[in-house]
Amino acid sequence: MKKLLLATTNAHKAHELASLLGDVPFVLTTPQEEGLSLEVEETGTTFEENAALKALAFAKASGLLSLADDSGIEIAALGGAPGIYSSRYAGPDVTDEGRVQFLLDKIKDVPDGKRQGRFRCVVAIAGPEGDVSFFQGTVEGVITFEPTGENGFGYDPIFFLPDRGCTTAQLAPEEKNRISHRGQAARAASKALRQMATEATS
Ligand code: IMP
Repeated sequence: MKKLLLATTNAHKAHELASLLGDVPFVLTTPQEEGLSLEVEETGTTFEENAALKALAFAKASGLLSLADDSGIEIAALGGAPGIYSSRYAGPDVTDEGRVQFLLDKIKDVPDGKRQGRFRCVVAIAGPEGDVSFFQGTVEGVITFEPTGENGFGYDPIFFLPDRGCTTAQLAPEEKNRISHRGQAARAASKALRQMATEATS
């Protein structure tokens, strides 16, 4: 079976991606397992560009098919910010709690009914020859006035799902994966990976 490199140095993300990809017909590997040390600067201006930058850099360095993702939250009242800057929005070395508080402060005067938000994830799969395919997922929600829930990470405690009546931090991890932006993108990617494996053997 061919290898698929999960192009991230974040162990939590590698683990989450591995469980989301399920039983794709590839041997999943990580930069650490391949003895690769690579820091890719996210200099793109879109989720697609950043995901492609990471996947391509790892594919070229390793010679392996490589998968990377880029994700974030888009707030309607902020014209779509923080978007690709979601993890850096409140500055460097800020905790998840600090980031949540920073965002809540930014929209403290935005009233009920105008607090729509969206999580977005783009997965890029790149080959060493420079070919890239994209898969994406989105989930719509409403930003609460205060955090609720202990699960998930990042902005989950303030991301309310109206049809569930709870935040994504109140969902069990499997339930969040089932509906999340990252879950949708990863499922689309895993379908394509199965197709690629079938084509390679036929
Ligand atoms: P990146 O994809 O590593 O660039 O990070 C995206 C950032 O967006 C994370 O650090 C979080 O702050 C936020 N984010 C992305 N997906 C989620 C999610 O599922 N829940 C909560 N926050 C998220």
